[in-house]
Amino acid sequence: MCGIVGYVGGQPALDVVVEGLARLEYRGYDSAGVALVAGGELAVEKRAGKLVNLRKALDEAPPPAASTGIGHTRWATHGAPNDTNAHPHADCSGTVAVIHNGIIENFAALRAELAENGHTLTSDTDTEAVAHLLEDEVKAGAGLADAMRRVCGRLEGAFTLVAVHTGEPDLVVGARRNSPLVVGRGDGENFLASDVAAFIAHTRDAIELGQDQVVELRADGVVVTDFSGAPADVTEYHVDWDVSAAEKGGFDYFMLKEIAEQPRAVADTLLGRIGADGRLTLDEMRISDAQLREIDKVVIVACGTAYHAGLIAKYAIEHWAGLPCEVELAHEFRYRDPILTRSTLVIAISQSGETMDTLMAVRHAREQRARVLGVCNVNGSTLPRECDGVLYTHAGPEIAVASTKAFLTQLVAVYLIALYLGQVRGTKFGDEVRDMIKVLSGMPDKLDQVLETMGPVRELARSLANEHCVLFLGRHVGFPVAMEGALKLKELAYMHAEGFAAGELKHGPIALIEQDLPVVVVVPPRARDVLHDKIVSNIQEIRARGARTIVIAEEGDTSVEPYADTLISVPAVPTLLQPLVATVPLQVFACELATAKGHDVDQPRNLAKSVTVE
Ligand code: F6R
Repeated sequence: MCGIVGYVGGQPALDVVVEGLARLEYRGYDSAGVALVAGGELAVEKRAGKLVNLRKALDEAPPPAASTGIGHTRWATHGAPNDTNAHPHADCSGTVAVIHNGIIENFAALRAELAENGHTLTSDTDTEAVAHLLEDEVKAGAGLADAMRRVCGRLEGAFTLVAVHTGEPDLVVGARRNSPLVVGRGDGENFLASDVAAFIAHTRDAIELGQDQVVELRADGVVVTDFSGAPADVTEYHVDWDVSAAEKGGFDYFMLKEIAEQPRAVADTLLGRIGADGRLTLDEMRISDAQLREIDKVVIVACGTAYHAGLIAKYAIEHWAGLPCEVELAHEFRYRDPILTRSTLVIAISQSGETMDTLMAVRHAREQRARVLGVCNVNGSTLPRECDGVLYTHAGPEIAVASTKAFLTQLVAVYLIALYLGQVRGTKFGDEVRDMIKVLSGMPDKLDQVLETMGPVRELARSLANEHCVLFLGRHVGFPVAMEGALKLKELAYMHAEGFAAGELKHGPIALIEQDLPVVVVVPPRARDVLHDKIVSNIQEIRARGARTIVIAEEGDTSVEPYADTLISVPAVPTLLQPLVATVPLQVFACELATAKGHDVDQPRNLAKSVTVE
């Protein structure tokens, strides 16, 4: 949510900043802007709408050359997405510019105080208050870094702030509390960004910033302190993917590329999990086997697609590890009274590792002394630092707003956790765990097979582009798959879509069925005969009422043929693993249908990747 870039060094700052913004545009695309410090002057340019509008303005009136600059791509919170509310925001004297991600909760009081003290605020944003507070500090004689430290002490809420000042033209200052910011270390140049993707074309050496830290960025060095000015410990790391991973690589959309990358992402997430002794090993886990043996309940917290991965995890954890498992939307979790003890394992699933709702749930769980394990895709993000242990998915950067490869790798990660719990708690024998890992290792090939047969799914999606509603049904692990299929369609095609548990149909939703309504049904493998037969009956019931049935079933399942207007066959796999192969056609379906409607599937309306505000 909002992309931030800062640069100091020998290259033209404008080029580096705009290139960085292009890579971060998935974080917000309501408006974009840059501020450069050139020849003792501040040059600010900003435009509502996507980055292309800013680029056009910059081409028409190129700003002066500069080696220091900051840039922002916005997902609006306070103030409409127009030119005035776009970041950067400047102070009254036009010497300080600031960009921001997050929400400053006490902004109204600060704005009122500033207005009373004679400042003129021109936008409706919370951010602008910071520019004027910095102005006061700088006028009182503080350097920009000291000014930032003092101002941060006055702010409530979550923020990443990055500022420049004409009085210190070779300096960019950043600060973070509960919002992402990473440093990229170059040779004679340094970078600041919400995410390493912004500078990956220049350096893969990064520094993780901790909570409540301020960073001073100069071409020849980086200084990090806490808000009081004391030197802070930082963690340096090397990014294990390169710039090609953050590019479309010949695909029209990142989403298409990310769907195609799923076999590789699943294989990478499984890599090196079996140790020399033939046992499953989860290196980064940091929670000991003895501690895991004490666990008597698992609670999973997550949002959106990651929540759907959690719903599927429940089946695996209960079945393989014999542990009761609850799954909760992270934003609901701390507003009730969840019963957590030292023996509760809380699993927080988040692709970005920056979802504020999930982070707040993690903090709540740790306050109640529960052990917390994160499942995360982004190295250097906040979630792994706040958890007792972490299992990284190895999906690589996911840039399209709609989650695809991250979801499949989250599934792999939670399967691994469930098997590991089964192994250490003795509910699964070693050979059973190894057999299941072997089946999981075969999934990349199965996914390749799915991807090769998606032509008819695309055709079907295009034929439904004028529909207004699609329903999705499933049972058991097929139910969260149905919910995921519906979520993809809502967010990409802006259509009404709902995922139901097929058993719930007769308790109400069947009233929605009308002539020719498309209904997608995820059929469990035939090996689960009771489940399978029940859903076949459900298909007949909806078809009898006029539904157009689109059936996803394992290959060779002829029993569904008479009731399927369209049959999508997926490879036969064990029931618990079926979500891996059954989700892909739903991703392709939503992507193609949205494209047929003329939507930008990488940047759906009103959304942004990484929801860093509550
Ligand atoms: C949907 C989607 C979102 C995210 C959700 C959680 O396609 O991408 O629903 O899954 O916002 O994000 P993370 O996993 O980053 O916590």
